[in-house]
Parts: sequence; structure tokens; C-alpha cells
Amino acid sequence: KRPIIIDTDPGIDDAVALAIALFSKELEIKLITTVSGNVSLPKVTKNALRLLHFFHKKVPVAAGAAEPLMRPSVDASEIHGESGLDGFDFPEPDESLLLPENAVCAMRRVLLESGEPVTLMPIAPLTNVALLLKVFPEVKQHIREIVLMGGSTGRGNLTVMGEFNIAADPEAAKIVFASGLPITVAPLDVGLQARILPAESEQLRQMGGVGLMAYSLFCKYRSGSLASGLCMFDSCAAAYLLAPQLFTTHAARVEIETGSMLTAGCSVMDFAAKTPNAIICTQVDAEAFHCWFVEQMRGCELC
Ligand code: BDR
Ligand code: CA
Repeated sequence: KRPIIIDTDPGIDDAVALAIALFSKELEIKLITTVSGNVSLPKVTKNALRLLHFFHKKVPVAAGAAEPLMRPSVDASEIHGESGLDGFDFPEPDESLLLPENAVCAMRRVLLESGEPVTLMPIAPLTNVALLLKVFPEVKQHIREIVLMGGSTGRGNLTVMGEFNIAADPEAAKIVFASGLPITVAPLDVGLQARILPAESEQLRQMGGVGLMAYSLFCKYRSGSLASGLCMFDSCAAAYLLAPQLFTTHAARVEIETGSMLTAGCSVMDFAAKTPNAIICTQVDAEAFHCWFVEQMRGCELC
């Protein structure tokens, strides 16, 4: 099994990405770290612990940064609801899984203790990952690669040019893309193509269990726009790890704009650059993704 650490801000699309990763036979989730993003740090941490209780999974959780490196927090509660996971009646958080360590220290420990290099899957603002790489640069040799959801080849969703995970903490993203580590990006572009349509949502509802959880959350996601299809942004990072054949990829140089007031958080992706620093998923086979996604959700059997 491939060891991974997931850095997340659940978040409705985070919740389904976590389900897919936690129930997969190929991944061993060593640690879940939380970061301020879709909603505040206490809320996303509580959500991670509620999800684990519901899934009956015992994975340690460590809470990380409560704010971006240099800017005030932004949130996406109008998309995910006040709690971050509105729409489903979860059990109480499994507090026994919450580590006393900060996320950055926990990531360092897990990386150094692992017998093999660990993959990082950040699906949230990159504050924790940037802090890890700056405070403990010695961990770099223990990181196999970073597969993240974030950025865009074009326009943004938080601001005109900024995708949420990058634009919420542009300075952190800049540090991560300058790290020299192997990085694969599932940007906004593929998330927009990986849309779950009403037919798939109905299949989820009929599954019961984790499928019904996803359906119930989807009914509240983006204030109930189920009919027009919902973008599975964060699941694209999990999909790349589990089924990379679904994606078309291209190497690019990614630079993060931090200076400009209007375009801070823009991920400038240069596909002609001679010194690429990332692999970008530019397209996903939408039909194949639908089937894969529904199958993965069917595989999330609560026991
Ligand atoms: C990203 O922003 C968040 O709202 C989602 O959870 C996802 O990680 C999409 O831009
Ligand atoms: Ca997220």
C-alpha cells in the first residue's frame, strides 16, 4: 500500500475525496491534517473527526494552521454551509483520534518514521505544507511527491484569477511550488470537467451508507445546485493517485502571483517553459470519471 498524508479542510468535496482515499485498497492513510480553508480550523478539524467516526476509520488527525501565512482567512461557507459539512446528520467527532501535536510536527514525525517515502495529498490551502517545508526542510527527502488540488490554467473561482486553495494563501503556494519536490496538480480545469450529474447523484442516494452521505451533502453543496452538476475538485487528486489513466497531463512551470492586489493567488502555468516544476492534469475523461467515482463510492462499505 502506498503511504500518504492528506491535508484537508472538509468541506463537502473533501469529504468524498477522504472517503475514496480511506476506503481504497491501494492507499494507506498515515495521517490527516487540517487547515483553515473552507471554514475555520476548529470546524474543519471537527468535520474530519466526524467523518472518521462515521466511516469507522481509525486514522490520526492533527490540526494545523488557523490562518494563512500573511493574509486574513477567507472562507467558502456559502458553498459548503456554515458547518462546512451541512446536509447530513453525522455522529459526534471521534476525539480519541485527535493528536496533541500540531499538524506540521505530526507530518514531520510521520515522514521521518516511515520506512518509505510518503505522498502528500493537499486538498486545501497550502499553509501547513509550506510551514512544514520551511521549518523542517530535512523532510523533503522523505516525500515521494505532492499531488494537490489547486490552481487553474485560466480563471479562478475565489477571485477572477485565483482558485480557492491557492488564492486563500498565495505565499504558502509560492513556497510549495518553489520547493523542488515532484508536484502533480489537479487544477480547477479538471474539477470543472469532473461533474457529478443528477443521474450519478441518484445512484449515490440509492447506495445508502457513504453514498447516501455524499448525496445528502450534495443537496446542500453550492446551495442546492444538484441539477446542474457538482464539481468533484478534491476527488480529482485522489483519482490521479488511484486511476491516473483518467487524466491527460502536461509539464509546466507554475509561478504564483503574490504581488498584485488584483491577481494575487493566480497560478501562472507556462506549458512552454524549459524548466517545468510540476505536472498539470489538463483534462479528465469525464465519462470514465463518472463510472470510476460511482464505483469508488460503492466500494466505501461501512462495517
Ligand atoms: C477547492 O476549494 C475548496 O472550496 C474545495 O474544497 C476545493 O479544495 C476548489 O477550488
Ligand atoms: Ca478542499
